[in-house]
Amino acid sequence: KGEGGWSALKDLLRDDENVVRAYYFSVGPSLFADLAGQVRNRGLSNRDTRIVVEIPFGHALESARALNEELAQYFHEDQIYRIDHYLGKETVQNLMAVRFGNMLFEPLWNAQYVDHIQITVAETVGVGGRGSYYDKSGAMRDMVQNHLMQLLCLIAMEPPARFEADAVRDEKLKVIRALDPVDPDQIVRGQYTSDGEMPSYREDAENPTSKTESFIALKCYVSNWRWANTPFYLRTGKRLSERMSEIVVTFRPIPHNIFDRVAGNISQNQLVMRLQPDEGVKQWLMIKDPGPGGMRLKHVPLDMSFAQSFRGRNPDAYERLLMDVIRGNQTLFMRRDEVEAAWEWVDPILKAWDEKGLKAQGYTAGTWGPSASVALIERDGRTWHEPD
Ligand code: BG6
Repeated sequence: KGEGGWSALKDLLRDDENVVRAYYFSVGPSLFADLAGQVRNRGLSNRDTRIVVEIPFGHALESARALNEELAQYFHEDQIYRIDHYLGKETVQNLMAVRFGNMLFEPLWNAQYVDHIQITVAETVGVGGRGSYYDKSGAMRDMVQNHLMQLLCLIAMEPPARFEADAVRDEKLKVIRALDPVDPDQIVRGQYTSDGEMPSYREDAENPTSKTESFIALKCYVSNWRWANTPFYLRTGKRLSERMSEIVVTFRPIPHNIFDRVAGNISQNQLVMRLQPDEGVKQWLMIKDPGPGGMRLKHVPLDMSFAQSFRGRNPDAYERLLMDVIRGNQTLFMRRDEVEAAWEWVDPILKAWDEKGLKAQGYTAGTWGPSASVALIERDGRTWHEPD
């Protein structure tokens, strides 16, 4: 912050019009505006300079709006890159390739053929080390408002006319705006407790009375022609039994079974997109079990495991996104109105929890979260997808 630091930085930078300058602010949101102002007012930027800001972008709708307002004083919207590293993940981009690069899926990608969609981002890590930040955020702000909602947008959006920044972001924004409000009481909020070995959330956060959630499970609806009445189940948490992130699209049951009982049950088709680990896409289909023994059916995956199929090195999500910053491509970055719309959806939920002062339900570290999360989906006659 000191004067000296800034002049030294200025001296370090090459004064060449053709060199792109990108400033990456990997700091708390309260420092973004000040940094942006310094860069601008000290003559460290030009019209082609870019700033990259990390999530969390604001703490609630009001602070996100204020932050956008402040940044806009110093930089144009096309210079501001709001990063969400989930958009840089290989499978997330593949989601768009699968949807819009094939004829096969898009005609089925709607309420008529899709039964429901699940998005799970499960982590085994706890919040130890960053407890003081996390305790003020919780899973809703830390994961749902950004990463999970971004995934939801890419699954649910209409085909953009082009794979270009504003065309894609316009479609994502429409999804967020079409999201029905969720009853805050229907959302499962969990907080991990010790399993005897791993510390509890409260120990990690160093706050013995913390009410903050480290787990969320919710059901929501995108109310438009494409998705009316199709449930989207979202789930994320820390200290779960496995590190596993995936999107599962479950298609509706076949309308009529022509096979007799000996053939076995017919499972619903599922498209499983695995973000991590073992990135890849599996399309589950029914086929005949090979060999003699008559017509017996079997559920098998068409497996597109990226690690096996594509041997080249995959850039890390951040590497890819930072390259996009240099190239000046904002397609995978969040636009101002998108971030604000996401906060608009989340804000009433956070406020309701705050007003009621509800604490999260306990779940033992190393499990799949509170049993209410299982009940949330089983009540509808469905189950969370078990990773294979
Ligand atoms: C960050 C969250 O944005 O994403 C962390 O603040 C979380 O709490 C992390 O652990 C998860 O990212 P990844 O790439 O490890 O799934």
